[in-house]
Amino acid sequence: MPLKGLKIGFLGGGAMGEALLTGLIRTGLASSVLYVSDISASRLDYLKQKLGVNTTPDNIYMVKEVDIVILAVKPQSAAAVLKKIAVAVRPGQTFISIAAGITTGLIESYLEGHIPVIRVMPNTPCLVGEGASAVSAGKYAGEESVARALAVFAAAGKAVEVPESLLDCVTGLSGSGPAYMYMILEGFIDGAVRLGLPRQVARELIAQTMLGAARMVLESDEHPGKLKDMVTTPGGTTIAGLFALEEGALRSLLMKAVAAATQRSRELSG
Ligand SMILES: NC(=O)c1ccc[n+]([C@@H]2O[C@H](COP(=O)([O-])OP(=O)(O)OC[C@H]3O[C@@H](n4cnc5c(N)ncnc54)[C@H](OP(=O)(O)O)[C@@H]3O)[C@@H](O)[C@H]2O)c1
Repeated sequence: MPLKGLKIGFLGGGAMGEALLTGLIRTGLASSVLYVSDISASRLDYLKQKLGVNTTPDNIYMVKEVDIVILAVKPQSAAAVLKKIAVAVRPGQTFISIAAGITTGLIESYLEGHIPVIRVMPNTPCLVGEGASAVSAGKYAGEESVARALAVFAAAGKAVEVPESLLDCVTGLSGSGPAYMYMILEGFIDGAVRLGLPRQVARELIAQTMLGAARMVLESDEHPGKLKDMVTTPGGTTIAGLFALEEGALRSLLMKAVAAATQRSRELSG
């Protein structure tokens, strides 16, 4: 267990910080090894009450206390926080950042010495323990730091490693992905409402269908095309629906969405 005996601290206890702390506690880590620092006293009170974790308004104190530091403030606050805490970060630590668009190279340039830095792109379903996160190692980060980061983010869903050059693509796929899924769900719900199904019923049926199909893909290891073929009877209902989607060029549209979001991510971090 890569996190055994380690203390983990979050710089920023917002939505993501809370989601990850909750996940780590759910996997069995004691609240006593978890730390959070935040500029908002009310946020710290809330996290202390709800999760029983150690809280402090002092970012430097927190960084000195822990083995894994997770930068979880908004990207526009990241540079100011990095400048202040740089003196307290040490090479034996793993420094993880989830600040969108901020490269490991930039973080390394703020920190003093050869600090193992890991950059992560998580997504909002981390809030319900079903996140999809990709982690990328900076130039001083070895296997141990990557394993630590994978373990932290696996506590809130699934986590994989990719080279940092592919992190913009991850942003365009799973980072922005929840919004694509919501839009697809909305379209299907409206489609059913148009034909007379009550909205609540349509919502529950199609959201569960998306969840079920996703689990079939993850658990069966089959190609999605094969799973699709298995529910498509010749001359039946499904092929009629698939034909309508194909007429709308669904797959090329989805490919364009990933490309557009990836391009935008490159522009924002470049
Ligand atoms: N949410 C997502 O789906 C998602 C996905 C991928 C990546 N990310 C990244 O995750 C990071 C956190 O996102 P979030 O949604 O959790 O943001 P958030 O809810 O705004 O949380 C950030 C927290 O940090 C606090 N903070 C601000 N400046 C600070 C400082 N100098 N020292 C200590 N704490 C400070 C904020 O306090 P105040 O509110 O009082 O300013 C807030 O409580 C962002 O960088 C974002 O790019 C998020």
